[in-house]
Amino acid sequence: MDEKILTRNIHKEGCETLAVYEQGGGYQALRKTLGGTAPADVIEAVKKSGLRGRGGAGFPTGLKWSFMPKEKNKPHYLLCNADESEPGTFKDRLLMERDPHLVIEGCLLGAYAMRADACYIYIRGEFVYPGKVMQRAVAEAYDKGYAGKNILGSGWDCDVVVHMGAGAYICGEETALMTSLEGERGWPRVKPPFPAQSGAWGMPTTINNVETLACVPFILERGPEWFAGIGPDERNTGPKLFCLSGHVKRPGVYEAAMGLPLMDLINDLGGGMLHDDRPLKACIPGGSSVPVLTAEQCNVNLDFDSLQTAGTGLGSAGCMVLDSSTCMVKALHRISHFYSHESCGQCTPCRQGTGWLASILARVESGAGRNEDVDLLVSIADNIEGNTICALGDAAAWPVQSFVKKFRPEFQAHVDAGACTILGVAESCT
Ligand SMILES: Cc1cc2nc3c(=O)[nH]c(=O)nc-3n(C[C@H](O)[C@H](O)[C@H](O)COP(=O)(O)O)c2cc1C
Ligand code: SF4
Repeated sequence: MDEKILTRNIHKEGCETLAVYEQGGGYQALRKTLGGTAPADVIEAVKKSGLRGRGGAGFPTGLKWSFMPKEKNKPHYLLCNADESEPGTFKDRLLMERDPHLVIEGCLLGAYAMRADACYIYIRGEFVYPGKVMQRAVAEAYDKGYAGKNILGSGWDCDVVVHMGAGAYICGEETALMTSLEGERGWPRVKPPFPAQSGAWGMPTTINNVETLACVPFILERGPEWFAGIGPDERNTGPKLFCLSGHVKRPGVYEAAMGLPLMDLINDLGGGMLHDDRPLKACIPGGSSVPVLTAEQCNVNLDFDSLQTAGTGLGSAGCMVLDSSTCMVKALHRISHFYSHESCGQCTPCRQGTGWLASILARVESGAGRNEDVDLLVSIADNIEGNTICALGDAAAWPVQSFVKKFRPEFQAHVDAGACTILGVAESCT
């Protein structure tokens, strides 16, 4: 894919303004759709495009939209998930900062397809600047008649509301996001009921990621067949934003076709390993919650199914590259500390287990590890997985299971030597 799609505007001067967005053909997809496409046909087009959610789970977007009730006797809501807090992930921020109207047009098209009365854009609390850019852009959209009452003379009303979160990773989980939006503590809810039956304020609701919604104007403008033609097969389609961080020369957000080889992302787009004398040791391809890949496993394509076959996931496409100087105990300790800190505390396996994982890892890392600690880590992770209200529990368990499975000798060596064997005894990793 030579052409930039999602990032086509980001280097233009004034890219965050309505004028520049319109000059590039912006809001034409909305105009065309409201001018004569039925909401059900928009859903069909999105189904046909093969678009799958970019927020982590990869659920087919058109199918999700079709779960909204057909009859309209209550308000319907679309929530745009801009909480982006998964470690290693920073693509939604780029879209909001550099092409806010693309996000808004995607929101409006999704809202129209589901006959929503309002779209709430829930933005991570720390994203103060992207929040301001989005707020300015929403005001411009209202002024030009793209949002609010009788949009573009179509008779359809839809409000677009920017809502700033308070800075909690858990509020990116869809039911926690709804609870937080309602003004309560951001605690996940037990499903069912699913959001399409009873979501925000008890009304039919659908939640989509920023990048997912940003794909929609292109699907409607250029056709679902065009979108489905990008990527390796009909289950893995479209342009994709990859976030590259860690030990590479050029970290950043890169756009490529779904299915980009991971080694091309690292070596071509990312300029190769940061230090020429420190080879690749491991890579976490989809944000910190997905299982780690060893260097030998990195000859894989970055799409939903290839990564699943490799025993990991595309997740949020936050690709973190680790070189030979990385202490895997230290890296896992850092990850586990994050999940322990972000657990909302509602369910015991997650609340207690994530804390135990972090403190056992601290012990092993400091050189005070006990002989049974490595097995204990796996046992705790196994008991968290699948036993919690939301997937944060799984997100905390998967890195532990995969790090220990693939780098067990390094964990055992920490225990046996009472110190870090990667960085050396003198240069402890703590
Ligand atoms: C703990 C946790 C945090 C999450 N954080 C985010 C997030 O920041 N952004 C996001 O889009 N999805 C996040 N998700 C996934 C959402 O629950 C939901 O699946 C997603 O927003 C659906 O959008 P999509 O279908 O467009 O991918 C998170 C899930 C969990 C379990
Ligand atoms: S799994 Fe963790 S974050 Fe999710 S509801 Fe339970 S305690 Fe809260």
